[in-house]
Amino acid sequence: AKITYIEFDGSEHVVDVKPGLSVMEGAIRNNVPGIDADCGGACACATCHVYVDEAFQEAAGKASAMEESMLDFAENVQPNSRLSCQIRVSDALDGLIVRLPESQH
Ligand code: FES
Repeated sequence: AKITYIEFDGSEHVVDVKPGLSVMEGAIRNNVPGIDADCGGACACATCHVYVDEAFQEAAGKASAMEESMLDFAENVQPNSRLSCQIRVSDALDGLIVRLPESQH
C-alpha cells in the first residue's frame, strides 16, 4: 500500500509498504525520519506517534485500550492520534496519509 508520511516541517515521503507490516515498520525500513519507535513496536514507548489523515481514520481503526493508555505519554495528542506500530498496513489503507508530530522532529 502506498503511504505518505509528512514530517513536521512539511517534507513528504511516499513509500510502498507491504501489507502485514505496521505503519511504523514502513517508516523505519524506508528511512523516513520522524518516527523513533524506541520500543521496537511493543506499544511501550509512544515515540511512534502519528496523526492519521481524517479520510483514513475509519480504515485505520481505533486504538486499543493499551494503545490509548500509552498515548497518554505522547505530546499534543489529538483525536486522530495513533501509535503507528499498532496500525497494520492492508490494501484498505492504500493512499494513507500520516503526519508526524513536532516532538519526533
Ligand atoms: Fe513503541 Fe510504537 S514503537 S509504542
